[in-house]
Amino acid sequence: MYVSDCLSVNNSGHLTIGGVDTTELATEFGTPLYVMDEDKIRQNCREFVQSIKESCGGNGLALYASKAMCCRQMCRICAEEGMGLDVVSGGELYTALSVGFPAERIYFHGNNKSKDELIMAVENGVGRIVVDNYSELEMLEEVAASSNKKAAVMLRIKPGVEAHTHEFIKTGQIDSKFGFALETGEAMEAVREVQKNGSLELVGVHCHIGSQIFDTDPFTHAAEIMLGFMADIKRETGAELSELNLGGGFGIKYNENDMPPAFSEYMDRVSKTIDESCIRLGLKTPFILIEPGRSIVGAAGITLYTVGAVKKIPGIRTYVSVDGGMFDNPRYILYQSKYEFVCANRASEPRGDTVTVAGKCCESGDLLGEGVKLQHVKPDDILAVLSTGAYNFSMASGYNRNKRPPVVMVSGGKAKLVVRGDSYDDIIKNDI
Ligand code: LLP
Repeated sequence: MYVSDCLSVNNSGHLTIGGVDTTELATEFGTPLYVMDEDKIRQNCREFVQSIKESCGGNGLALYASKAMCCRQMCRICAEEGMGLDVVSGGELYTALSVGFPAERIYFHGNNKSKDELIMAVENGVGRIVVDNYSELEMLEEVAASSNKKAAVMLRIKPGVEAHTHEFIKTGQIDSKFGFALETGEAMEAVREVQKNGSLELVGVHCHIGSQIFDTDPFTHAAEIMLGFMADIKRETGAELSELNLGGGFGIKYNENDMPPAFSEYMDRVSKTIDESCIRLGLKTPFILIEPGRSIVGAAGITLYTVGAVKKIPGIRTYVSVDGGMFDNPRYILYQSKYEFVCANRASEPRGDTVTVAGKCCESGDLLGEGVKLQHVKPDDILAVLSTGAYNFSMASGYNRNKRPPVVMVSGGKAKLVVRGDSYDDIIKNDI
């Protein structure tokens, strides 16, 4: 009935997540509130782990892209579910290490890592450093040499495939801040540079072609290009790299028209392409890594708000204002992202009104949705925005000195707080 199968409506006509009444959650924890279904998250992790087992015969690892939603509990869940982790900052790395996430299963990304971040990664024995550019390469050589450690490196490559939700472009990706270009020979030069250095070990190559992708063709196409490059490396340098990381980007359902394929379908098609290409190119099948972020947490999360002012502008539109906004979900103002909305305490009533949902920030563009189909709401109703588990909490800000909302996870019909919300003291705690 809704975009996410962890949602339902109970006998009181209230929206539930993981079987828990969302209006009770709003009363207990206050609003705005991020709520995530931990059982659903674990199920998603298991589907990726399983699809690697089935499609690649276990010769691979699914890394959770923690940028989608990073907190200590998410790191614990991923560790317990046998996932690896993609981190992209010292902060994400610190969070993972703080719960004892196995460092060898952490992959460190980023197009502008600082020296301090590289030192932190090398000293803590992070599994792979995914090197993005020459400056980083130089810095990493120095860091590894002075700490007397050998750093295992993957190179981020621009495969020339840029995927959007419904289409993909096969050329013209040279203009990207991420990675080494293939066409100019830059990528091959970087390979030789790493191979020359005794403190670095080149284990593989990485690419990431986009996000919220429904089509499997761009993934198989990128895999072919990357394997072609691995074959070039073998021919030109004699080295056969053992790992291929194909990044994340698997689409989720935000609206009823979104039809993402099952995770297993991506893995199935990609691994078939990999096997065929390897035979054709005379390569051993590499260890395959994928980096799902949104698809692990996106549809497992919702955000609850309390409705405040309802402003009807005759002949124009009705603004329904809520107690959150772009500070907890900047995706509408950034990408005009479309969500499904439900009045949590009137979930069994028809969604007969068309409204604009506005946030409380001092900015006209601070909206959560326009042309939103919604029940007839009144002040103090609870509004739920669905599929907000990815890139909402992680992209939240303190704009207008609003308090960042807490995060609650539900599991086995019970709710637990996993991230406390800000207090006013938190807001001023770093001010001098
Ligand atoms: N790996 C790399 C190297 C990435 O850059 C990303 C996402 C992922 C994996 C995970 O992609 P996913 O499976 O989540 O699509 N803030 C935007 C999304 C930015 C994605 C950035 N990179 C949004 O809210 O839609």
